[in-house]
Amino acid sequence: MRVLVTYYSETANTEKLAKGIYDGIVFVEKRIAPIRSVGGVTNEDLFFVGFPVHAHSVPLKVEKFLRKIPEGKKIALFATHGSLRGGELAVEAFYDAIGLVQKRTLLGTFGCRGEVKRDLIEKLMKKPEDRYWAIEAQSAAGHPDRADIEEARQWARWMVMKAQSF
Ligand SMILES: Cc1cc2nc3c(=O)[nH]c(=O)nc-3n(C[C@H](O)[C@H](O)[C@H](O)COP(=O)(O)O)c2cc1C
Repeated sequence: MRVLVTYYSETANTEKLAKGIYDGIVFVEKRIAPIRSVGGVTNEDLFFVGFPVHAHSVPLKVEKFLRKIPEGKKIALFATHGSLRGGELAVEAFYDAIGLVQKRTLLGTFGCRGEVKRDLIEKLMKKPEDRYWAIEAQSAAGHPDRADIEEARQWARWMVMKAQSF
């Protein structure tokens, strides 16, 4: 079983989670790389793909990568988001991501909050269409924290076990 952990991250929140996930995976061949340097063809069996929620959905670079994963591969998706954990906005982004990986085996998803930069929150507050999630995002400060990363690590081990039993 070969595992790839890959991610897109602008302010290092998703990267932090990706590194925790990578460290948590044991007893398999594994590799970690940001999406931009993964390259075209990869021979991994299980793909952990992480992204920050952008505009309630998946950033375009991640969308393109997900579409390229060959049919039949196993996938586990993780994300960070400023809005509430388990809230409608984050769930919406996961639905979009899941829609992009049909015909692959989706093993599971993990999401947690990720701090949003203060200047971005201030900008969003001024836009009526973004104000509702910018208010939520204020309480994401300090995330992902140690507890988030530990949870992600445990989730990752479970994903690997699931992949091995398929
Ligand atoms: C352009 C942009 C759009 C964003 N849109 C959303 C959003 O729609 N919903 C949300 O919950 N968080 C949103 N966020 C917050 C990020 O998802 C969150 O801060 C994330 O942890 C950033 O991860 P990164 O540091 O790996 O880039 C947005 C952030 C940026 C920069």
